[in-house]
This record gives sequence, structure tokens and C-alpha cells, in this order.
Amino acid sequence: MSFFLVKRASRVKGEVLLLGDKSIACRSIIISAISQGRTAVKNFPPNKDCLHAVKTFKKLGIKITHDRKRKTINVFGNGLCGLKKPKGPVFVGDSGTTMRLTLGVLSGQNFPVTLTTGKSLSLRPMLRVTSPLRKMGAVIKSHVTSKKPQVEEYPPITIKGGALNPIVYRMPVASAQVKSAILLAGLYVKGETCVIEAIKTRDHTERMLKLFKADVKVKHPPTLKLQRIVYRSPKGEGGQNTIVIKGNKELVSPGELFIPGDISSASFFLVLGTILPNSRILIKNINLNPSRTGIIKVLKRMGADIRIAGHKPQVTRFEPMGDLIVKSSKLNGTIVRKGEIPSLIDELPILMVAACFAQGKSELEGVGELRVKETDRTRSMSQNLRKMGADIRVLKTPKSEKIIIQGGATLTGSTVKSFGDHRTAMSMVVAGLAAQGETRIDDITCINKSFPNFLSLFKSVIQ
Ligand code: S3P
Repeated sequence: MSFFLVKRASRVKGEVLLLGDKSIACRSIIISAISQGRTAVKNFPPNKDCLHAVKTFKKLGIKITHDRKRKTINVFGNGLCGLKKPKGPVFVGDSGTTMRLTLGVLSGQNFPVTLTTGKSLSLRPMLRVTSPLRKMGAVIKSHVTSKKPQVEEYPPITIKGGALNPIVYRMPVASAQVKSAILLAGLYVKGETCVIEAIKTRDHTERMLKLFKADVKVKHPPTLKLQRIVYRSPKGEGGQNTIVIKGNKELVSPGELFIPGDISSASFFLVLGTILPNSRILIKNINLNPSRTGIIKVLKRMGADIRIAGHKPQVTRFEPMGDLIVKSSKLNGTIVRKGEIPSLIDELPILMVAACFAQGKSELEGVGELRVKETDRTRSMSQNLRKMGADIRVLKTPKSEKIIIQGGATLTGSTVKSFGDHRTAMSMVVAGLAAQGETRIDDITCINKSFPNFLSLFKSVIQ
């Protein structure tokens, strides 16, 4: 087997322009496909997940063209009920966002479709999305395991939609993918569908649906009181959130939209630029949606020198965007509360790296969802970082899970594994660039899932 070798870098300097955000890009294909009119999606990232979103909707009868030179995808929407019955099963690759959100859309189509997946997604839980969609009236068959006491479902999934009922759904897990699937199914409902989240998750679907003229309203706690639903918000930021969508109304394409740069991809530069001495990087055109900027808040709380250089609201209209400037600085440990987790869920692996380079203890609370990502990231990251000399403990109770990192130990290069997970792989490249000696990573091809030009961009700023 060939390993990828990482050596310590002395500093990073320069500027980078990142491709569009993966979550927003997947949504742009799905929502444009079921709207009326052509949508030109600009700054589309050609990573594996987003290209699978494109292939999925082509298979469902939507005309989509890709102008690679202009980084633009043209989606020729066919209206809410304009998808076509595909000839066979539709393969969604390992894109969890494509899988779960497409199930929402398919709940409203009156033909059966089987969605199949790659290996990593075939091991990820689907009951969280099939359960509310069944309540709305979709008929769903999936691969079921009955590991008592809990029954879980996995892909492949066959779904047959039709007339749907309105529901009021209180989310048992904080998941933007589940929320989005229900809201998309809500487009097909005569009446109001309501999703209540105890902790606010990323709101890209709500924002994009508004851009496409859907009737979506986000209500805050006072409304909850009126409905006599009492929620205690977990400690930390975030807070409860209610979204109401009125269905049975066609979506209208805005003609074009611009996908702002991916904050999850930016987080690797933010951490490396902070922990390597004498560094300064300008990261341009990054999505600054508050439901995604938890990594910036937490790093700043730890002492990072991160500045937002220029807001550019006029470019995207539906999502905030700006430039970030990061300079090296000394980090201190911090506590990340459960309520903050959804705003940095995908950045937890790289935050674990940052915590290893901070002075003092960091505690990451309520991190149970990390176990069901592309791999079990609590395991992949603690195993790898411990091999490099980090002091990491995981405390598990039946209800919650916490990662405790005692920072300040010198990390030394070792042989580590990506576990086929893009964010573990990129986090370990960053750890290796800041550690003493040489780090060997078993396989980093998985990085293409979200960030195909990761290595070339890193090489362009490393000195
Ligand atoms: C995503 C939501 C998050 C995130 C995933 C993308 C999305 O997943 O981890 O990478 O696009 O909505 P969950 O909804 O499972 O938390």
C-alpha cells in the first residue's frame, strides 16, 4: 500500500479562493430540479457528492448541463411533479445530503424509486428520515436491522410517494438533512407542515426555498409558547426553532444563484493558519451563515486571530458571504456546549486537532452524532491523534457523549488512517503539517468527496 507523506511546514502565507459549499450546492440541484424555469448555479463545486446530486436528478429525468470552464451548472427545472420514473435503481454515491433530501422530494412523486448507495452511506442510519416521511404518507421499504432495543434502517431504500398529510414534527436528533427532507416533502402537502428543532441546525434549505418563492416561515420561541409546547434549550448557542411550510404551490427559479465558498473546507486553513507560527492567510468568498460559523466563534474564543474582511451580501442574496483573514496565535482550551454542536458538526475533527495544540483542557459536549458520519469520527480522530501523542478521553453516558482533550502535548508524526473519511483525512494532513517529524496517512483519495483541490490549494500557501 502507498502512503501519503506529510512533513512539518514552517508557516502558511497567501490567499485562497474556495469552491462552493457542498451542502448549499446539493440543495441547489434538488430545489432547481423541482422548480419552474432554468437555474444557472454558479461556483458549483465539482466534488464527488455534488456530482452525484447532478447524476441523481439526471436519472430522474431532469436536463442538467455543466459548463466546467465557468464553474456553472444549468438545471432545467420541471416543476414540483415533473420528475420522471427512472428505468432502474438510482445510485446516489455516498452523498448523505443527496440521499436524505431526495427522499423528501420523492415522497411527493407518484411512482416508486429505489435509491442505492456506496459502501460508506450504506452503513449510515436512515430511520431518522424514513420515520417522519412515513408519517406524512410515503410508502418506504429499506434494509432493516433489529439490533435490540432499537430498530435501525439502512439503504437501499425504495420509496413510493403520493398524497401527503401535513404533520407537526419535533426532531428527535439535531439534523439539517432530516429537517430538509420533511420541508421538501411539505412542498407537496395541501396545508402546513411544521418542524420543531430543539437546537437550530443549518438553515440553507429554508433560505433557498424562500429564494424560490416557497411559503416558508421561521418562528421563534414566543410562537412555541402560544402552541403550549415547552422546550428547554440545551446550554450553549443555537436554540429552539420552528419552521412552517405551506405546500401545494409551484417554486419559481430565480434564474441564477451563486454558491458561496465552503466554510467546512475553510476550517482546515483557519486551524493551520492559527497553529503554525508567522502565518497569515486570506480566505476569499466564504459562506458566513450563522448556523455554520460555529468553528469561527469557537476558535476565536480559544484565542485565534480571525477577522471578517468584507461582507458581500449583493453576490449571493440568500446566504451571507465574506472574506476571512487568519493569523497565527496561541490557543487556549475551551468548552463547546451541546447547543453549539450543529453549527460546527463537520468541523469537530479539525477542532480536535486545534484543541491538541491549545494550552489546557478542551471539552466537546454532546458529540454523539459524530459516530454516524462517513465514519465514526470520535473513534477515527481519537485513535489517530493518540498515536501522535495526544491526550484524549471520551466519556460516554447512555444519553450523551463528551470528548476531553488535554492540549499542549507535542504531537509527533506517526502512521495514521483516514478510515475512508474525507474530513478525518484532511484533519490528519493538518495535524501532520504542524507536528514534529513525518506523518504517513494510508489513503487520502476520499478527500475528493468534498474538496478535490485540497492538496493543490494547501501546497500553494505552505512554506
Ligand atoms: C448536512 C448536514 C449535516 C452535516 C452533513 C451535511 C446537510 O448532517 O453533517 O455533512 O447538508 O444538511 P446531519 O443533518 O446528519 O447533521
